[in-house]
Amino acid sequence: MSAPIRGPIAVLGAGNMGGQIAHQIALHGFDVRLWSRSEERLARARSESETLLSRRVEKGKLDTADRDAAMARVQVTTSLDDAVPQADLIIETISEDRGVKRELCSRLDELAAVEAVVATNSSTLPSSVFDDCFRRTDRLLNMHFFNPALVMQLVEVVRGPHTSDTTVDRTTNFVKAIGKTPIRVAKESYGFLANRMLFIALQEAFKLVEKGYVSVDDCDVAVRNALGWPLGPFSLADLVGLDVVEAILQEGVEQTGDERWRPLPILADRVRRGELGRKNGRGFTTEADAAVKA
Ligand code: 3HC
Repeated sequence: MSAPIRGPIAVLGAGNMGGQIAHQIALHGFDVRLWSRSEERLARARSESETLLSRRVEKGKLDTADRDAAMARVQVTTSLDDAVPQADLIIETISEDRGVKRELCSRLDELAAVEAVVATNSSTLPSSVFDDCFRRTDRLLNMHFFNPALVMQLVEVVRGPHTSDTTVDRTTNFVKAIGKTPIRVAKESYGFLANRMLFIALQEAFKLVEKGYVSVDDCDVAVRNALGWPLGPFSLADLVGLDVVEAILQEGVEQTGDERWRPLPILADRVRRGELGRKNGRGFTTEADAAVKA
């Protein structure tokens, strides 16, 4: 039996994903250090998670004491030296930029405890991209959460060619310990598993609307009502962030050379105009909502 991951856990990056991942972990009794370069992001991450957990309290799904205990277990910091050296597991959730992530990984090589597992939450970059920045590669892997991380159950545990069996086992057990459902992905490939299927469907939806077969709204209605998705593809793209969707697809072209991943103008043009989806209130469906209300 491999030793369980005990904490504290370091979550690096306090964007859409990091804040919710940190609070999910804290809800299950682990101490968490949430790091960001920005005080403002840290404050926002805390207040967003507090609002979401308070809604659970109001609905009778969570005790007030459990919410307060979870909030107290998350310590925020702008210093990597505070967040990393004590951590048993480090989960990197910073922006999807190869250069910036590689730089952070090199810092982790210096700062992380010898025993620590280092996981990247990247949706597109397999941990092999970092295998020359971090010496203890047997402890390096992808741990991929879905958005919103306090709600979505799945976490993909993706093994790199360098990752040891023990690291895969310890990480999989940790995912269970924080109330999520793990799957093991045995080899790295573009999009891992769920995103690979999802992004094929998104591309089809973009194509059908771009070619004038259906409106954004009707496409979402069709997918919700025929396929049972909670959100249609356009609302989902808005939730994930149109810039993130574009970056994921672009990475697909680069990693596989397969043109089926090429971002289509219906998406790329919006991103160029600064329409990023829910995060700035300008996306496919926010526009559709405004049109309906007008
Ligand atoms: N963040 C956190 N929690 C949220 C949320 C958000 N942005 N939006 C809603 N929630 C919570 C609500 O607080 C509520 O929680 P509670 O029941 O415990 O109080 C619960 O979700 C249900 O919310 P609602 O009843 O208001 O609304 P919906 O029924 O529309 O649920 C949803 C919202 C959970 C986002 C749902 O629409 C959903 O499951 N959507 C699918 C999301 C999805 O497919 N994500 C995968 C994206 S791909 C990805 O992440 C990969 C990455 O690599 C790009």
